[in-house]
Amino acid sequence: MAIIAPSMLSADFLRLGEEIEMINKSDADWFHLDVMDGRFVPNITFGMPVIAAMKRAARKPFDVHLMILEPEKYFEGFAKAGADILSVHYEASTHLHRNLQVIKSLGMKAGVVLNPHTPVNLLADILSDIDLVCLMSVNPGFGGQKFIDQTTHKIKQLKQMRNECGAHCLIEIDGGVTLDNAKMLLKCGADVLVAGNTVFGAVDPTATIAQLKAISA
Ligand code: DX5
Ligand code: ZN
Repeated sequence: MAIIAPSMLSADFLRLGEEIEMINKSDADWFHLDVMDGRFVPNITFGMPVIAAMKRAARKPFDVHLMILEPEKYFEGFAKAGADILSVHYEASTHLHRNLQVIKSLGMKAGVVLNPHTPVNLLADILSDIDLVCLMSVNPGFGGQKFIDQTTHKIKQLKQMRNECGAHCLIEIDGGVTLDNAKMLLKCGADVLVAGNTVFGAVDPTATIAQLKAISA
């Protein structure tokens, strides 16, 4: 059964407490939280203080996706704010191995995110150190974009790499996930589906989360 992680980027920030409660009561497994710095990506969202406030109401794990340069400067801050899984971009990590070790030493699961143009085989020598690999299926920065088809090949390739080296990382897909492509993504090998617009743009977000969860059953 897949893990469903609604992206709070598409939530109504004015009613954040209610949106969190909706996720708490839904079939969703995690909260996906998109942190953007206006430098690594052309958008700015929220940071530690907002995440810490959300943590007081949330009853499911926080999957924090850092779209920031020099992420290592803030690992401790995100640990204190309540991140359970902390993911850095491959493209923003000069010392990826060190970053993963520090994230784990702070008691969090460590994730690595690949942009659409970054090949999965670049992770060959580090896969067994990673708890979660997130494949971007849109260019990071905004919700509501169209799924990039090439991602399906990357999922299959990554799954094969994982089998070959006996690693245990979860495979997460982020961007353009819909009720129409969810089944196909799971068949390719995805373990975690992030969904922003599909959930929060729906007339009934709770029902949509239930549908995503049912697709993976
Ligand atoms: C994009 C973010 C995604 C985004 C997904 O940079 O990483 O998590 O919220 O949104 P949808 O599901 O609308 O493509
Ligand atoms: Zn994300």
